[in-house]
Amino acid sequence: MDLTAYPRRIYTDFATPIQHLEKLSNMLGGPNIYVKRDDLLGLTGGGNKTRKLEFLVADALKQDVDTLITTGGVQSNHCRMTLAAAVKEGLKCRLVIEERNHLYNPKENGNVFLYNLLGAEQIKVVPDGTDVVKEMEIVNEELNKEGRKGYIVAEGGGNDLGALGYVSGSQEILKQTSEMGISLDHIISPSGSGGTHAGLVTGFCASGIGIPVTGINVRRDKAAQEEKVYNIVNLARQRIGFNEEIPKETVKNFDDYLGPGYAIPTDKTFEAIQLLAQTEGILLDPVYTGKTMAGLIDLVQKGYFEGQKNILFLHTGGTPSIYANASNILEHSNLYLDVN
Ligand SMILES: Cc1ncc(COP(=O)(O)O)c(C=O)c1O
Repeated sequence: MDLTAYPRRIYTDFATPIQHLEKLSNMLGGPNIYVKRDDLLGLTGGGNKTRKLEFLVADALKQDVDTLITTGGVQSNHCRMTLAAAVKEGLKCRLVIEERNHLYNPKENGNVFLYNLLGAEQIKVVPDGTDVVKEMEIVNEELNKEGRKGYIVAEGGGNDLGALGYVSGSQEILKQTSEMGISLDHIISPSGSGGTHAGLVTGFCASGIGIPVTGINVRRDKAAQEEKVYNIVNLARQRIGFNEEIPKETVKNFDDYLGPGYAIPTDKTFEAIQLLAQTEGILLDPVYTGKTMAGLIDLVQKGYFEGQKNILFLHTGGTPSIYANASNILEHSNLYLDVN
């Protein structure tokens, strides 16, 4: 498996730590739970998008563009990170923001605050259900009329080129765990646009060490998400020249922790956020990692990992968005402290 054929920018100059969550593991009484701290990746605020953008932005630079264009929900980590990469590379950035279950308020904290602080060139807000691909093409046409050139970064960086970020991430995990003297039995990852999940599956299969990766859905039902991830797996494996068919069953997802929909936290999401904060001092977000940790906890309790020793939770970031949800989190879990 050779990734050097693809140009790449490096936005993190270290391997993100893998840490043993000792207190959480003891409390749940199941396997050892480790966390891969991809919330600490480079670019503003960290998170999984950094790995994808290393390949996507390198591709953009090769095409001599002056602007990155992308899309996401109101509190989009992906939009924040694409903007951060643009800042780093001296490019402009235009965002198409889709109001999914959430109206855009320019004064909001979290990622919206960061769109302003990092200086997005344009924010185009569109209603839920809009054809965002078409909207991004319109933004690009507008740039072309001014003699400029944009590069459209797929939503969530969720295509096969972006997935190479997590093919590379899988290699990093294998190297680290071998140095640590542990072997992983299972990985739990959020599954949204699907690139992270697909990149890991592709990377582990291609390296011949097929660690199972279970995806926790944050947006779609099980069948739709498994199909989405599997499509990316097939394209990504061809990109890296891995010619063996990867069985469909290798892609496994659960939609049981999604609740009413994207970006709508459930009671279990809030409980997981509180538990990780108060046992390990680790921050989770209500859209992705809180739901995924709620899934991991439930799966441990149901005996899903029976006979398995070491489980890795992929912390994909999203930390800035929790500041936009502060009162929601504190009020829901009744966490306001008395002061005297
Ligand atoms: C913090 C965080 N975790 C997980 C995901 C989902 O990753 P993917 O889109 O690769 O499935 C996202 C996507 O936006 C994210 O921002």
